[in-house]
Amino acid sequence: MLTLDNVTKVFRKNDKNFVAVEDLSFNINKGEIFGLIGTNGAGKTTTMRMIATTLKPTYGQINVCGFDSVKDDANVRKCIGVLYGGDTGLYDRLTARENIEYFGRLNGLNDDAINKQIEYLSEVFGLKGYLDRRCGSFSRGMKQKTSFARAIIHNPQVMLFDEPTAGLDILASEEVIDFIKQCKKLGKTILLSSHNMQEVEELCDRALIIDHGKTLCSGTLENILQQTNTNSIKEAFIKIIKKD
Ligand SMILES: Nc1ncnc2c1ncn2[C@@H]1O[C@H](COP(=O)(O)OP(=O)(O)OP(=O)(O)O)[C@@H](O)[C@H]1O
Ligand SMILES: [Mg+2]
Repeated sequence: MLTLDNVTKVFRKNDKNFVAVEDLSFNINKGEIFGLIGTNGAGKTTTMRMIATTLKPTYGQINVCGFDSVKDDANVRKCIGVLYGGDTGLYDRLTARENIEYFGRLNGLNDDAINKQIEYLSEVFGLKGYLDRRCGSFSRGMKQKTSFARAIIHNPQVMLFDEPTAGLDILASEEVIDFIKQCKKLGKTILLSSHNMQEVEELCDRALIIDHGKTLCSGTLENILQQTNTNSIKEAFIKIIKKD
């Protein structure tokens, strides 16, 4: 469903070439959650942005649902839903419903399809009582749930979640985690980045540890524990990063 082949991203930084992602390859199957784990600046968001077609790889290929991310970028965008943590980018002066509707239209959905999806997603996220309120007054958690609904209004096959629980309290994080599990049950293909190793352990089937753009380790979670002779992903991560 999602394949990266030898993907490299070089930025120009202070008149010098800077390799943010180097020779990265992985694939994610339908119904699988794949974790991208790394310290700050490791290259996770850059990878997500290349898959989302906002950045072009300097070298290598990305294929999403059979479409090439450079040659067929419009089709790739139809297949993916992207959620970046941190700033949610919602329009504060619009209501939750208006924010979600706007994205639905951008994705070519008709009013009927938009209304059905809003009905379904507001049920999933407990957004019903909030739909017609302006987002500016929302808590961090409500904003994040609205952003989730907006990111997947077009029911995409592939979902990119970049630190989706960043800044959320325990209850709001749990709701997001439950939702990601539901997406998996629905057979979605999910790439997840997180700094929370418990979350990775709970959600991911496989993971890849990236540092300074380089792949240090990848495989099923069990496989990573075996490779590092550790008992938890947190321990494995620290051991791998410190060895580097
Ligand atoms: N547009 C850009 N121009 C130049 N350098 C960039 C650009 N975008 C990202 N970088 C650099 O690429 C590196 C990887 O950044 P990236 O945002 O992908 O890291 P990350 O793994 O998402 O980190 P974090 O955990 O902090 O979100 C960083 O050193 C960053 O400064
Ligand atoms: Mg990031």
